[in-house]
Amino acid sequence: MKSDQGPVVFSTVSDLRDFLASTRSRGKTIGFVPTMGNLHQGHLDLVNKAAEMADVVIVSIFVNPMQFGPHEDFDAYPRTLESDCKALANHPCDAVFSPTVREMYPKGVNTEIDVPSLSTILCGHHRPGHFKGVATVVTKLLNIVQPDVAVFGNKDYQQLQVIRTMVADLLIPVSIVGADTTREPSGLAMSSRNAYLSKEEKDTASMLYATLRTIGAALQKDTQVSTTMKNEKQRLAAAGFVLDYLEIKDAQDLSKSYVEADSAVILVAAKLGKARLIDNLVVELTH
Ligand code: PAJ
Repeated sequence: MKSDQGPVVFSTVSDLRDFLASTRSRGKTIGFVPTMGNLHQGHLDLVNKAAEMADVVIVSIFVNPMQFGPHEDFDAYPRTLESDCKALANHPCDAVFSPTVREMYPKGVNTEIDVPSLSTILCGHHRPGHFKGVATVVTKLLNIVQPDVAVFGNKDYQQLQVIRTMVADLLIPVSIVGADTTREPSGLAMSSRNAYLSKEEKDTASMLYATLRTIGAALQKDTQVSTTMKNEKQRLAAAGFVLDYLEIKDAQDLSKSYVEADSAVILVAAKLGKARLIDNLVVELTH
């Protein structure tokens, strides 16, 4: 299926379904990597991981309007289908699904999927409606592709937890796999939104991961956690970050405190210049 020009690209549900039906009839398993495009190494690592677990890999590229707030970057979000397909040509991707908004929402949005316990905290608190948009589009994409396995990044920790919960609650027959965060040598988590950063801001942005590690070390030693949190918040603010949140939660259930948990996750979201950046670090706790 793959040529030197890259994977075959489908823009309609019906064409993709024809391709998938013939793939399944040959007894092949299907791996799926949903994305919004502007692919970087983090996305490509998910593709490699999907290929380790399935015979045929589908990548979707769709900038989903439903998950953007009215004043967010839906219009500015980088759309780079051609270079994305070139990048995928060097990776085990068999087909790209790149639908229009009309193809995905022919009758607008009449049905919504929501996981309220997880969708209203952390990023959900700062981006009302965001996770409803994510959960709805991921449900639609899973219904279109019906993959055996779908791979998501731990980078979007809360998103992955929303998706795992939704898939379990709705009995969607797919195995959801989380993949490690791919980082720049500086520690900065790769993100399509890093494109909004100036070179100077990109250097500053690497502070986020350093902050997570500093707090992670305090958590593991169980000393000075709240002082460390306070100091790190001040340091980030002094460097020019506008913090949405910096919090520690139960890694298994973000709606719970970490205090009695086996593992904790430190989550941060902050604006730097035009970019809103998120990152997280999971820490095993020895009580
Ligand atoms: P997008 O931001 O394009 O991310 C697509 C997938 O790549 C997500 O699973 C995300 O967690 C993962 N990812 C992003 N940066 C990563 C990194 N540095 N290392 C590893 N994985 C990384 O997340 C979305 O799109 C959308 O919300 C989507 C799930 C496609 C629904 O529209």
